[in-house]
Amino acid sequence: MTPHEVAAGCVARHGGNPVKLLQILREVQDAAGHLGPEAIDAVATALGLPRVRVEATATFYHLLHAESHGVYEILFSDNIVDHMQGKNELLAYMCERMWLAPEKLSEDGLVYVGSTSDIGLGDQGPAALVNGWPLPQLDHNRLDLIAGLIRNRKPLREWPSMLFDVATNVRRGDALLAEPHAPGSAIARVLEISAAAMLEEMERASPRGRGGAGFKTAVKWAACRAAPATMRYVVCNADEGEPGTFKDRVLLQAHADLVFDGMTLAARVVGAARGIVYLRGEYLFLAEALEAVLQRRRDDGLLGNRILGEPGFDFDIAIELGAGAYICGEESALIESAEGKAGRPRNRPPYPVTHGYLGQPTIVNNVETFACAAKIAVRGGAWWASIGTPESTGTKLLSVSGDCARPGVYEYPFGVPVRRVLADCGAQRPHAVQVGGPSGTCLSWREFDRRIAFEDVPTAGAFMVFGRERDMFEVARNFTRFFAHESCGFCTPCRVGTSLLANHMDKLAAGKGSAHDLAQMQRLMHIMLTMSHCGLGHTAAKPVVETLEKFPETYERRLRALDYEPAFDVDGALETARQITGRDDAGAHVDEGVV
Ligand SMILES: Cc1cc2nc3c(=O)[nH]c(=O)nc-3n(C[C@H](O)[C@H](O)[C@H](O)COP(=O)(O)O)c2cc1C
Ligand code: SF4
Repeated sequence: MTPHEVAAGCVARHGGNPVKLLQILREVQDAAGHLGPEAIDAVATALGLPRVRVEATATFYHLLHAESHGVYEILFSDNIVDHMQGKNELLAYMCERMWLAPEKLSEDGLVYVGSTSDIGLGDQGPAALVNGWPLPQLDHNRLDLIAGLIRNRKPLREWPSMLFDVATNVRRGDALLAEPHAPGSAIARVLEISAAAMLEEMERASPRGRGGAGFKTAVKWAACRAAPATMRYVVCNADEGEPGTFKDRVLLQAHADLVFDGMTLAARVVGAARGIVYLRGEYLFLAEALEAVLQRRRDDGLLGNRILGEPGFDFDIAIELGAGAYICGEESALIESAEGKAGRPRNRPPYPVTHGYLGQPTIVNNVETFACAAKIAVRGGAWWASIGTPESTGTKLLSVSGDCARPGVYEYPFGVPVRRVLADCGAQRPHAVQVGGPSGTCLSWREFDRRIAFEDVPTAGAFMVFGRERDMFEVARNFTRFFAHESCGFCTPCRVGTSLLANHMDKLAAGKGSAHDLAQMQRLMHIMLTMSHCGLGHTAAKPVVETLEKFPETYERRLRALDYEPAFDVDGALETARQITGRDDAGAHVDEGVV
């Protein structure tokens, strides 16, 4: 098929709707292998959009590419925990086995091996994606097997299924996960007590959003309900891009009905007729099973028109896939992305509750927040409020990974001490814990009596354990690179600041840093914190700020001098020339004093 025929087919499947541009581009890439100039032209023509508009979306997302990545694209997860488990060595091993260089297509056009940001398998790494499908628990044996399958050009559907087995690893359940949930029970309860009474239950329960910011869910729902509109939307934020977080993946894998019940009752409360699950591209493997659950719910009268026989209660849910962009977890960027655009955060106000998806009132909530709402409907607001602490009601799911014997998902009432979680997961000589991922909080061993709660240590869910032998400077360097890679580039303080900060960290790592670099970094961090457009830029410097404060010795031992040291090693850059010319005399070196 020509690119034009492929594009025309994909566009037709989506009713020629430009809002579906990202989904269309994903499908065109799947069929054509990449999004070259012809494919972009073809999509633009088929949708009747300016080419530049299509290109702006196609070039924004890491999982979309303009050049071929071959028949097999393998992307190793670049999370710090994957690194601790040997990611770099495994990637090099794979490249050696396949006779290729990293980040380059093999000469025969068969295979590409590279890296990508964390893929949400921190409890079962080192992990990678092959053509978008997860490969957990990689080791030399598995890579040998995979190399053989690729050489024999076996289609993925013929690969042994055990290679793709993603475990749920729920280690501790509480209010959400301990008991099974009867599909539809939460919706039935809302119909019994009324939408207004359900909102009152939410106010009584007082849950705060589980996606990070901790905004009161009832306040958000009430604002959307009150906003004048003919159409309202419920959006489930399943972007889960924060490195070290994977609890939303587990909720969708094993408790999808709880989440969909939560979305449906939210629709009843705010008066929405349409719902969207924005699923991160790296969770493609969940999409088919989720579609099956949605269809079963339609068949059972839990979605569609007249839900549970109630006249006028019409609501359905669609799944929209992301394509690899951490910033799309930010709610306004997510909405842009769901509308088929590059995922850049909007100016706020206005907020999504009044001007959200397609300009209409929209609630965006985290996957876990919807699960909490479903439980609140079934068991009541007072019950929920009796769990946890007065400021942080209910329970929290933690994605535990790193130096521990039992990584996985742990559910605790809010207020649980960090020390208790470390004991339960079998932490090995813990020295530090990164709570809430790179944008969260770094706790040193002196702070293990602090508690997981909005009023003490808030978290979106990640809990990464670092043993005594880990170098916290390298942890911060990995996080800093992550932010530089994920900055959407919209505003200068973040676009330039994250890159400069990453460069300074590399310079320190190379033993070329000085006190001057630290002073520069302090200035940069202040600018990023105060002048960035969105939360990514505000928090991107946090790993450096906190590790500098709590583990200063890891920086001090890297400082070569207390004064200025140039970032560019001129003499080092001449090494290749010396090798080519076979010279190593004094004249072939640059005098450091001259630089
Ligand atoms: C850079 C950035 C990334 C974010 N990523 C996520 C995410 O992956 N999942 C999520 O639920 N919220 C994420 N958020 C928070 C959302 O903007 C929003 O606050 C949240 O979805 C609201 O849901 P909640 O009230 O249920 O927490 C992110 C925020 C920022 C600034
Ligand atoms: S702070 Fe960073 S991620 Fe946010 S809008 Fe600016 S460049 Fe984009």
